[in-house]
Amino acid sequence: MPLRNTAEHFGLVAKTLHWLTLILLIAAFTLAISMVNMPLSPRKLEFYSWHKWVGVTIFLVVLLRLAWRLANPVPPQPAASPLWQRRLAALSHAALYTILIVMPITGWIMSSALNLPVVYLGLIHIPSPFGVDRALGETMKVVHLSLAVALLVLVAIHALAALYHHLVLRDDVLRRMLPWPARAGTKF
Ligand code: HEM
Ligand code: HEM
Repeated sequence: MPLRNTAEHFGLVAKTLHWLTLILLIAAFTLAISMVNMPLSPRKLEFYSWHKWVGVTIFLVVLLRLAWRLANPVPPQPAASPLWQRRLAALSHAALYTILIVMPITGWIMSSALNLPVVYLGLIHIPSPFGVDRALGETMKVVHLSLAVALLVLVAIHALAALYHHLVLRDDVLRRMLPWPARAGTKF
């Protein structure tokens, strides 16, 4: 499988970053849902740290992904799809990228504003220019949670759209993003 994208399909790097994002998101959500419901304990604080580390990693991965996207051709949507569907797909991908960037930023501002500093991997302190500010922290908490809900809804629609392409339209849209090489005889 080539490293770079071609005009028709995603390369190994784009695929790896796409599926790595899914794995990291599952970890971020699992940690988040567990940690907020735990009684105060060292384990709870550990989960908070891990959640932040995973979130910051998602931020770094999405930056890498966007840089790679700029340096590579992006396989076009199937020409058979109506224009409004292709536009909607582009819009939903832009929304996914935006949320993946804004969510970690709101988490970082929230944590710093609530005086719970972010120390990436326990090594790198990421200070916030906003300092400690409870009202800002509470606002960011609401934004962070709302974005989490929006992300879940968008990812569900995104995955259903991929399945629709594969099972109903029977085109190559899902196949060209799958992590394993295509079976012999298929185009991708
Ligand atoms: C894309 C990345 C991220 C996702 C998907 C995500 C998702 C979530 C979710 C679902 C919650 C649970 C909210 C609740 O049930 O109340 C949460 C809470 C939280 N997140 Fe994130 N998060 C991300 C990144 C970050 C980052 C980078 C930080 C900090 C550096 C962070 C800090 C927090 C904190 C402190 C809470 C707890 C809020 C509370 O106590 O209610 N998150 N996050
Ligand atoms: C749940 C399983 C998932 C499936 C089945 C899936 C499937 C796909 C497929 C088939 C494509 C290629 C679309 C095309 O060729 O135009 C794609 C692209 C994309 N996916 Fe996913 N995906 C999943 C999860 C996610 C998650 C969790 C995110 C991020 C939150 C995400 C973000 C994206 C983005 C931004 C693109 C556009 C790539 C680009 O053109 O730059 N996907 N996905």
